[in-house]
Amino acid sequence: MLLDVRELHAYYADSHVLQGISLQVHEQEAVAVLGRNGAGKTTTVAAIVGLVRPRQGAVRLRGADLAGRPAHVVARSGVALVPQGRRVFPDLTVRENLLLTARTGAWTLERACELFPAIPALLPRRGAALSGGEQQIVAIARALLRDPTLLVLDEPSEGLAPQLVEQLGAVLEQLRASGVAILLVEQNLALALRVAERVYVMNKGRIVFEGKADALRDDPAVLHQYLGV
Ligand SMILES: Nc1ncnc2c1ncn2[C@@H]1O[C@H](COP(=O)(O)OP(=O)(O)O)[C@@H](O)[C@H]1O
Ligand SMILES: [Mg+2]
Repeated sequence: MLLDVRELHAYYADSHVLQGISLQVHEQEAVAVLGRNGAGKTTTVAAIVGLVRPRQGAVRLRGADLAGRPAHVVARSGVALVPQGRRVFPDLTVRENLLLTARTGAWTLERACELFPAIPALLPRRGAALSGGEQQIVAIARALLRDPTLLVLDEPSEGLAPQLVEQLGAVLEQLRASGVAILLVEQNLALALRVAERVYVMNKGRIVFEGKADALRDDPAVLHQYLGV
């Protein structure tokens, strides 16, 4: 087991936003978390990576409980986040964005450029000058340069044109094949089903479905009730 989240509870002030989230990601597995706006997906991610302190529950990475540990500790233990909205630093160049948090390991700038052939031409440009699709490439490459065992992506397809979502799917399939485990938060059902072997569906701070991607595909009631499909 790579990531083992057990009975996670989190609050914003008095608002009980995560009400006992349990989910697992095995080594080299790709898992998706689906759910509508406000379901608690980003808060779940934030609690996993140390940006929100859970009030109760465990976040184990290869057995070590990281719940409540600061984000830099979680990052050092091999979890890299591609945050919702990309968060590329606007005043830094792409090169600086990529190398600021890079660690030495299997993922080098050269290897990232092989995965994303667009990167070399972007290196001298400032973050503020990038399109949404370019920002997404930089955000993913930046996370890979942290040499993660677990790559967490929070709605990477948000705001991307269909053609770019298609390219994103191909990249995530390639990454899955390369052996990095993936936790993909999405509202795009097709992308999630393409990339993930197993899926969780969240609603109002709880997991309301968990199973194989095919099982969700064949469950019109869950698709309709929780994803509006
Ligand atoms: N910083 C915050 N302060 C207070 N409430 C928040 C904050 N962030 C999110 N929420 C609330 O928590 C709930 C879950 O939000 P979020 O985890 O962002 O959901 P999702 O990512 O699935 O859209 C929502 O009701 C949202 O309004
Ligand atoms: Mg979100």
